[in-house]
Amino acid sequence: MQTGPLRILFATSECAPLVKTGGLGDVSAALPAALAALGVDARILLPGYRKVLAQLPGCREIARFAASAALPGSRLLETRMASGVPLYLLDCPELYDRPGGPYQDEAGDGWADNALRFGQLSRVAALLGSVRNPLDWQPQVIHCNEWQTGLTPAYLHYAAGARAATLQTIHNLAFQGIFEAGLVAALGLPPSSFGPDGAEYYGKLSFLKAGLQFADAITTVSPGYALEIQREPLGFGLQGLLTARKDCLYGILNGIDTGLWNPATDTLIAFTYSADTLAAKAGNKRALQQRLGLAPAPDLPLFGVVSRLTAQKGLDWLLEIAPQLLALPGQLALLGGGDPELERGFLALTRDRDKHMSTTIGFDEGLAHLIEAGADAFLMPSRFEPCGMNQMYSQRYGTPPIVRATGGLADTVVDCTAATLADGSASGFVFQEASAAALLATVERAACAWRDQASWRALQRNGMARDFGWEASARRYAAIYARLAKNR
Ligand code: ADP
Ligand code: GLC
Repeated sequence: MQTGPLRILFATSECAPLVKTGGLGDVSAALPAALAALGVDARILLPGYRKVLAQLPGCREIARFAASAALPGSRLLETRMASGVPLYLLDCPELYDRPGGPYQDEAGDGWADNALRFGQLSRVAALLGSVRNPLDWQPQVIHCNEWQTGLTPAYLHYAAGARAATLQTIHNLAFQGIFEAGLVAALGLPPSSFGPDGAEYYGKLSFLKAGLQFADAITTVSPGYALEIQREPLGFGLQGLLTARKDCLYGILNGIDTGLWNPATDTLIAFTYSADTLAAKAGNKRALQQRLGLAPAPDLPLFGVVSRLTAQKGLDWLLEIAPQLLALPGQLALLGGGDPELERGFLALTRDRDKHMSTTIGFDEGLAHLIEAGADAFLMPSRFEPCGMNQMYSQRYGTPPIVRATGGLADTVVDCTAATLADGSASGFVFQEASAAALLATVERAACAWRDQASWRALQRNGMARDFGWEASARRYAAIYARLAKNR
């Protein structure tokens, strides 16, 4: 019989604001906090990257782990998130004490030892879920996220004695953590783990496949994506396995941190506002135009983008149609980084049209908030999107999103039509076809709708009234944890 609150270890490679490259960072901070609000004893395990330890002086050492196979010895440090959620940091200088990002060096190349870096994270999470846990706190369920913790269920599967249950969450199936087969021994996994029913994927070692194979349950970040990944092309080769495991595969929509992303209290924007004071939003548009050197034109629709620049996000279509968007006339403010070709493309186009188009390459939390508040509409034309956070932030900021009907975008945005305006559900603009032409047609539709200020206000208010908070989804996770813990 279980007594006391459910004990969950949330193992992750990102956690905002300490380290974030995308939505995983947001989710890893907000979901454990939402679980804590429901009475779950959720604790986070994160690598002690140099940048993270520098932000958290005064962590306390609570355990040491010996080296194993090619994985060096490490220490576990303890502190707390600002939310109060306990945070365990895995300190292993050989693997994490270096400049650059969590996955890549400063030049943007993946770290050559990523298999060891995240094998170590996976292994320590598994140790904490096994009888070898040295702490006075023992998780009942380990919640693994992405391939970076995909080996945890595999390590636990082969561990002796009682063990915690495991839940593997897929945030993006395009990233699977595939490495050379020779690493199986270096990571201290038994040779028997490397088979078609284990961590082997076409002769290579797949961290994510191991997680999907051995976890007690699987979740992904929207109901729509949970269906899409059971087929080609979005199954990315794992559709067979996911279909075979569909009885324990759940699509649970991400929530947003409604404290952090609240236009009424946001300290990163120029003017706070709410659905009742939407006129104040115009001040943010002015501030954004001024900050980016755009012409201070209130009468042109300003389209915003905050995104990783990758093929996933469909921004090559935006690059293609940007001249027509500007010729509407309209303005475009883009913040992002990633694919060098896309970076160069947007920068080159901006050079000729700098009064109406701005490209900021880099990661800038403050500018991201100001774009959400200052743009008239937000562009997210993704080819695929497991969940997506920005379309939810946009709706909360009265900045209707323009999205393609895929994954979490289709689940969270209601296309603006006469019918959805009439029934009060319209909250953005949705297009089906994966093409630049379909994006352009939808941008034109949005610009036209923007000219009708009365219905635009209604669209903004509908989005702002929607509840994208974490509570309902955190309850669904808690129910799965409870079931897994009971079956252990
Ligand atoms: P993904 O995780 O696929 O990149 P999401 O929409 O789930 O996409 O989450 C992206 C998160 O990262 C959002 O919080 C977004 O605001 C943030 N983000 C992305 N690029 C930047 C950037 N260049 N500067 C600041 N924030 C960014
Ligand atoms: C991934 C997905 C994104 C999702 C995020 C958080 O990065 O690309 O759609 O919102 O994870 O789950």
